[in-house]
Amino acid sequence: MRAKITGTGSYLPPHVLTNHDIEQMVDTTDEWIVERTGIKERRVADPHTYTSDLAVEAGKRALKAAGLKPKDIDIIIVATVTGDMPLPSTACFVQAKLKAKKAAAFDINAACSGFTFGLSIANAYICSGMAKRVLLIGSEELSRITDWEDRATCVLLGDGAGAVVVEASDDDTGIWSVDIFSDGTIWDLLNVPAGGSANPASEETVKSGQHYLKMKGNETFKIAVRTLEQVVVDTLKKNNLQSSQIALLVPHQANKRIIEATAKRLNMSMDRVVLNLHKYGNTSAASIPIALDEAVKQGRIRKGDFIMLESFGGGLTWASALIKW
Ligand code: ACO
Repeated sequence: MRAKITGTGSYLPPHVLTNHDIEQMVDTTDEWIVERTGIKERRVADPHTYTSDLAVEAGKRALKAAGLKPKDIDIIIVATVTGDMPLPSTACFVQAKLKAKKAAAFDINAACSGFTFGLSIANAYICSGMAKRVLLIGSEELSRITDWEDRATCVLLGDGAGAVVVEASDDDTGIWSVDIFSDGTIWDLLNVPAGGSANPASEETVKSGQHYLKMKGNETFKIAVRTLEQVVVDTLKKNNLQSSQIALLVPHQANKRIIEATAKRLNMSMDRVVLNLHKYGNTSAASIPIALDEAVKQGRIRKGDFIMLESFGGGLTWASALIKW
C-alpha cells in the first residue's frame, strides 16, 4: 500500500518585514541579504497570533482541498520548534481549535526537516493501516526565538504554516520513498540553548539572550550543500529514476545558494525548482508545505508528475521524499 497527499494548504500572517525594515534594526543591507540568501522579505505574526493559529488556518485549507471535515481526521501531527508552549503540544491546541474530536494529536521536532520527518510518520501510519487520514502541519513562529540584534540570524527567519492531508492511495501515485537522517554529534551548529532541562529559564538566561536561536551559519551552509547533494542523488538511485524524470524539486527554503547547488547537482534548471524564500525567508518546518501548496495552486504539479522534497536543519537532521503526484 502507498500513502498519498490528497490536499494541501498554507497560511502566512499578513505583516511583512522587508530587508529595508531590517536595515533600520541592525548593521546590514538589502544587497547583502539578497546576494547571500535570496531573501527580500518575511512574515511576522502579531503577538496575539500563536503557532497553533497559523497551523489551524493552514490545516483548514488542506482539509478543504482534500474534501474532508475535521471530524474525519485520525491523527494530527504538528512539526514545530516554536510551539505555543513547552506543554501541551501545539497539535493538541490545533485539535481543540479544529474540533477534530476523533484525532490523536502530537508534535514532532526535527527543526527545518520537521515536515519531511512528519511525512515519514504519516506514511507509516497509513501504510500500516493504523490510521486512514492524517493531517500533517508544519507551523512556525521563528520571530519569537529570533534575536533581533543578531544580524547573522535575524535576516533569515520568518513565520508561516503549511499543511497536507495524507490518505491511502489506490494506484501507483503517492509517496514512493521518504528517507530521514540525523547527526546529533554536531547539534551545536544550530540550537536554542536555554528553556529546557539543560539550562532552564532564569533571569540570567533571559538577560544573556539564551532563548534565541544561535547558528554557526557558514559551517552549517557547507554541510547543508554537501549533504543535500548526496541525499537527492541517493533518492533517485533508490527509485531507479533519472533527474530528467523529476518534474519539480520542492526544497526547504533556507538559502538560495544551497538550493541552486542541489539543483545543479541534479542537472535541473531553476524553472523546475520551487523558490519562494524571497517572500517568506526560512520558515523551518513550514517551508516545504508552503512551497508545495503554492506549486499546487499555481498548477505546476500535474497528476503523474514525480516531485522531490528535500530538507536540512537543526539536530542536525536532513531528509528527502520522492512522490508520484
Ligand atoms: N549583513 C551584513 N553582513 C553580515 C550579515 C548581515 N546580515 N550577517 C553576517 N554578516 C557578515 C559576517 O559578520 C561576516 O563578516 P566578517 O567576514 O567581517 O566576519 C561576513 O558577513 C560573512 O559571514 P558568513 O557567515 O561567512 O556569511 P555566509 O556567506 O556564510 O552567509 C548565511 C551567511 C546566510 C547565514 C549562510 O551561512 C547560510 O545560509 N547558512 C546556512 C543556513 C541553513 O541552512 N540553516 C539550516 C536550516 S535553519 C533551521 O534549522 C532553523
